[in-house]
Amino acid sequence: MPVYVLTGANRGLGLEFVRQLSADSSNTVIGAVRSMSNDLTDLKSLNKNNNIHILECDTGDASSITSFVEACGNTLSGKKIDYLLNNSGINAVPEQDSLSISEGDMNEHIKINVLGPAKTTEGFHKADLLASDVKVLNMTSGLGSMKVSIGIKPRKCTTYSISKAALNMLTIHQGEELRKKLQGAVVISMDPGWVKTRMGGEGALIEAHESISGMLKVLHGLKKEDTASFWTYTGEQVPW
Ligand SMILES: NC(=O)c1ccc[n+]([C@@H]2O[C@H](COP(=O)([O-])OP(=O)(O)OC[C@H]3O[C@@H](n4cnc5c(N)ncnc54)[C@H](OP(=O)(O)O)[C@@H]3O)[C@@H](O)[C@H]2O)c1
Repeated sequence: MPVYVLTGANRGLGLEFVRQLSADSSNTVIGAVRSMSNDLTDLKSLNKNNNIHILECDTGDASSITSFVEACGNTLSGKKIDYLLNNSGINAVPEQDSLSISEGDMNEHIKINVLGPAKTTEGFHKADLLASDVKVLNMTSGLGSMKVSIGIKPRKCTTYSISKAALNMLTIHQGEELRKKLQGAVVISMDPGWVKTRMGGEGALIEAHESISGMLKVLHGLKKEDTASFWTYTGEQVPW
């Protein structure tokens, strides 16, 4: 009876994760949303197996993350988290380039795309809610890879790319440090592909169901030695 926890569950990739995971009634799925006052109709409509718990977590707000961790502990009543998917993220200023970075926008991207996943994983670890063989997925992007980015001309989404590169570095550090605390823990970065969501846009290459089923296959096939690695939804490793 695996327990999955994911952030950004109300739309896009997060919503599709919940759709696919909740179809198996033996799964417990905790879907976090930025605000309970958002329109959650799509997410609520998925709860056919009564195995989805919707909780609030603004991953750009440390106190919200603390409350979320506490609420998860109450919801799970003794069960541990087998899969933690740090999915929520923003790409709010794609037009900014490296010569026009706004300090406020950069701080916002680092807060949500890097500090959010860092503090969420840290919070669950401190609350002793992670299973000893937990799999943590940090949702990154090909744009967070140095090797991939150097081949993209013209460069794009500078602020976002920098934040996802920083997230990748978080994966490298968490991938070793969490393992010291939890024997079987595996932390990875994941590139979901270019997907038709609000962020990916209509011109994107793949549908959310294809990306999510690919990512779940990768996640379920991870071995202990895969900690601190970077994958695509198609199951290939990405160069950092
Ligand atoms: N789509 C792609 O092609 C693509 C490619 C590479 C990587 N990614 C990554 O995949 C992840 C999901 O992207 P998506 O395509 O599903 O994007 P999306 O459609 O824009 O959805 C983003 C999700 O993140 C949530 N979110 C944003 N800021 C948040 C915050 N402060 N607290 C809590 N939740 C927050 C949003 O909640 P609200 O509804 O409340 O805003 C929404 O649920 C992101 O990390 C993104 O960078 C996507």
